[in-house]
Amino acid sequence: MSRIAYVNGEYLPHPEAVVNIEDRGYQFADGVYEVVYLNNGRFIDEDRHLDRLDRSLRELRIAQPMGRPALRVVLREVMRRNRIREGIVYMQITRGVARREHAFPAKPIPPSMVVTARRVAPYPVDVTKWTATAITHPDQRWERCDIKSTALLPNVLAKEAAHAQGAQEAILVDAEGMVTEGSSTNIWIVDKNGVLRTRPLGNEILPGCTRAALAAELTAHGIAFEESRFSAEDLRDAREVFQTSASSFVKPIVKLNGAPVGDGGVGPVAKQLFALFARHVQGGPRNAA
Ligand code: PDD
Repeated sequence: MSRIAYVNGEYLPHPEAVVNIEDRGYQFADGVYEVVYLNNGRFIDEDRHLDRLDRSLRELRIAQPMGRPALRVVLREVMRRNRIREGIVYMQITRGVARREHAFPAKPIPPSMVVTARRVAPYPVDVTKWTATAITHPDQRWERCDIKSTALLPNVLAKEAAHAQGAQEAILVDAEGMVTEGSSTNIWIVDKNGVLRTRPLGNEILPGCTRAALAAELTAHGIAFEESRFSAEDLRDAREVFQTSASSFVKPIVKLNGAPVGDGGVGPVAKQLFALFARHVQGGPRNAA
């Protein structure tokens, strides 16, 4: 069965699902996207993702292709037509199609929208088998990393550098030697003093939905954490490091630049938070459908 994509109002088999060569997404990466995880037929943290999508569109002054109720229907329809209950849905909205000029088209144009979906492996049960390795890499991105733009070339190059070294994630370090985030994840540490930390929100990082959901769970369970910047040195000296994202959930990083993090195993905090987030995904009160 061919995969089905939604493209500007139609549901089409992938080979027929095409966009115009003058789409500004193709020409300029003038667009935004979201990735939402679907577990057992439920979209996880759906409203957080759709709120962030609205914000990205607003910040870039791209028109909304449709209201939220209609968007929810499209997401469900793509899942249904692809017969997926365990997977990820990708949605992308660009400014639309116009003759190539850098500035926005003088007359308003309709935005373009594409939604695809793919199956993923069942939710991980054993965190000791759900780990990653990482390298550090210079953060070469722009000053609006809070917008989930499709312009991901520095992220792509950083991820590729990680892969070239046999690692899965690149942890980005800014010009001041401070960790921003991963190339496609937010980064948390348990520092050498045992304090759970992640970088505060700002223009330098994506406000991760998993980060926000985990932070809400931590607060609700009275687990202390700190939103404070930390350096590449703090990262190197950390007892535990882990990443969060819609498709990695809470994933311990057990090796950094070839050296073990802590004792090289999955630490107690990562274990606790992995379990906490698994309950969130399986329908905890803060992730109501
Ligand atoms: N990546 N930081 C960056 C740069 C990201 O691209 C992502 C998400 C995150 C985590 O955000 P969230 O928890 O909302 O997924 C942080 C997605 C999954 C991607 O690009 O595929």
